[in-house]
Order: sequence, then C-alpha cells, then structure tokens
Amino acid sequence: MNRFIKESLADLPPYAAGKKLPNAVKLSSNENPLGPCPAAVKAAAASLETVHRYPDGMSTSLREKIAARNGLSPENIIVGNGSDELMVFASGALINTGDEGLTSENTFSEYNFSVKCFGGVCRKVPLKEGIFDLEALAEGIGEKTKIVFLCNPNNPTGGYFGEEALRAFLKRVPEGVVVFLDEAYFDYVDRSEAPDYPDSPRLLAEYPNLVISRTYSKIYGLAALRVGYAMGNGELIEALYRAKHAFNVNTPAQAAAEAALGDEEFYEKSREMTFRGKRYLYGELDRRGVSYFPTQSNFLCLTFATPASQIFTGYAERGIVIRDLSSFAMPHSIRYTIGTEENNRRFIEILDELVREGLCTI
Ligand SMILES: Cc1ncc(COP(=O)(O)O)c(C=O)c1O
Repeated sequence: MNRFIKESLADLPPYAAGKKLPNAVKLSSNENPLGPCPAAVKAAAASLETVHRYPDGMSTSLREKIAARNGLSPENIIVGNGSDELMVFASGALINTGDEGLTSENTFSEYNFSVKCFGGVCRKVPLKEGIFDLEALAEGIGEKTKIVFLCNPNNPTGGYFGEEALRAFLKRVPEGVVVFLDEAYFDYVDRSEAPDYPDSPRLLAEYPNLVISRTYSKIYGLAALRVGYAMGNGELIEALYRAKHAFNVNTPAQAAAEAALGDEEFYEKSREMTFRGKRYLYGELDRRGVSYFPTQSNFLCLTFATPASQIFTGYAERGIVIRDLSSFAMPHSIRYTIGTEENNRRFIEILDELVREGLCTI
C-alpha cells in the first residue's frame, strides 16, 4: 500500500503497454508497421527550427483542417496530447468524487483510469460477442453516471456497432450524461464489410452530449508524437478545454498531424495493406480452426485453449511481440497487429510451430 496515493487510485495497476523486445518485431500496440507518414516526418523536422517558442496552445491551424474535413467549425474541435489525454479532460470536466463513469469490460483501460483519477468509480457491463452492448449500457446508466465511454471498433476485439444501434442508444441517454465515443480505429473500418458503421460527426448536431475522439497514432504512424482530437458540441468542447493544460500539444506534433492529413497516398497504402493482411489471416486461421473475432481494426483478437502468457513467450522467442490480453481480463486471448505480408506469414508460421511443439492448443 502506497501511503501517498488516494483511495480511488490505490487498486489501479499502472498502464500495461505493449512490450518492446530486442530482435523482435513489435506487433503488440496496433501501430503502423509501415512506419510514420513520410510527409509528417518532414514537417515535424522542419518545425524543430521554432521549438524555442511555446506551441500554439489552441492548435489553431490543425483544428481548422480537422473541422473542415468533418463539416464542423473549429469551436467543435479540441486537440490532445494523444486521444487518451482527451479522456482525462472529459473526466476532469465531469467527474467529482463519488460520481460514476460507465463502460464495458474487455476494453481500453484509459476510460477506467480517467474516471478514477478524479475520484470516480467506473462501472462496467459485459461485451456482447466482442461488441459494446449498447442496450445493457443504456440500462446501466444510473443517478450518479456522468459519462459513458464507448469504443467503436472495440480494442481489443475489433467488433463494431452500427449507426442504428448508436442512434437508439443516444435516444435513451439522459441529456446530462456525456457519451464519449472513442473511434481510434475508425480509419481501418472497411465500409464494404461494415456499411452501417456510424457516420458519427453527423450525429453531433442532434446530440449535444456526444463527443467523438480520433487519433493520429495509428494509421498515420505518429504514436510517439502524441496527437489526437475530439469533436463535439461547442459547449461540451469548451468544458473539455477547462481541463486542458496550456501547451498540451507540441509544435512538431501539430505540424506532423497537419501534413499527415494531406498524405492520402500513405493513408490508402496503410489501409490496403491491413485489408489484404486481414483477408490472408482470416483464410489461414479458418483453415486451422482458430477462434477469433471478425475485426474492423488493424488488429485481430485470437482465443486459444492455452494461456496467453505462454503463447506470448512462444512468439517473443521466435521474433514477434504480440499482446497477451490478460490485462484486458482475457487470459486466453492474444491481440496481433496486422503487419506487412512478411510479418503475417511469419505470424502463421510461428503459430504452426507452437502447435507442433505442444506449446499452443487451438
Ligand atoms: C481504443 C483506443 N483509444 C485510444 C487509444 C490511444 O490513442 P492515443 O495514442 O491517441 O492516445 C488507443 C491506443 O492504443 C486505443 O486502443
């Protein structure tokens, strides 16, 4: 027991990040295996000449571009030091000691973290076949609920809910409860497979209690620069600003994000690689009878009879770092970031080796 820590944080383990191991390819954190967006790297490097100045604390130019892309105004946008910071801003603006947040089990840990930071309690309902159960969440909203976090597609399962289900849910949420819709993997949704994936910015005009977050960490390959943004009604975004530090997003990060928006070629190449990889992996996994969730993200969640910790070790020793999902309360599941063709082939080869050697049971 740490005598310096407040009660709401005492039982919270530190964030368990995807591991980095020397001589192994890291496919454990849903990063872009193609590297960073080249136009973004160039812009970030050029901006280093100006780092003796504080950054623009309002990310003005970037917000204008994001707003224009989404048919919104700059007042509807806030930029964060990664989208996870925006979750902290939202909880910071809304949660007092004893208030409640609501989310799902087996999802991104930062929702729970952000609520607890401000002395709140985060309640959870089970996932339904790897997807947020919006009916159970609507029923779970209580007197003390201030914010509901949704992850669509969900990390770590990759499952998504459609626009009709989201609309039905939003209709049931009381006006004073904020819905934080995390779309970190929005760029990897394949509309030919998921035509009903929500066009969520369009819902903002109808639902002033909705806020949507997205990130530059994944498809644009800028995870280390830390840039994400949230979109919402002006009053709600203003509330998030109240919890923001003055200079939260640094100048190279803002420059990189702006330049990334103009690099369609890298964006499309990354998407195509992921879609091709997904089709290949589905085929190989189906042939072997491996259980997995259909995904609309750049990762796959696979479940085995063998504990995930053992499978993690088997992969790490053979050159690939995957994610052991024990920290997501899924001790028999792993998450693999869909990689290059070569990565994916090696992933399947290692699976076969582990099965042959009795280290993994399907
Ligand atoms: C669902 C989800 N939301 C948000 C994030 C955080 O993204 P960022 O790097 O923008 O903080 C992640 C990162 O893994 C994620 O999986």
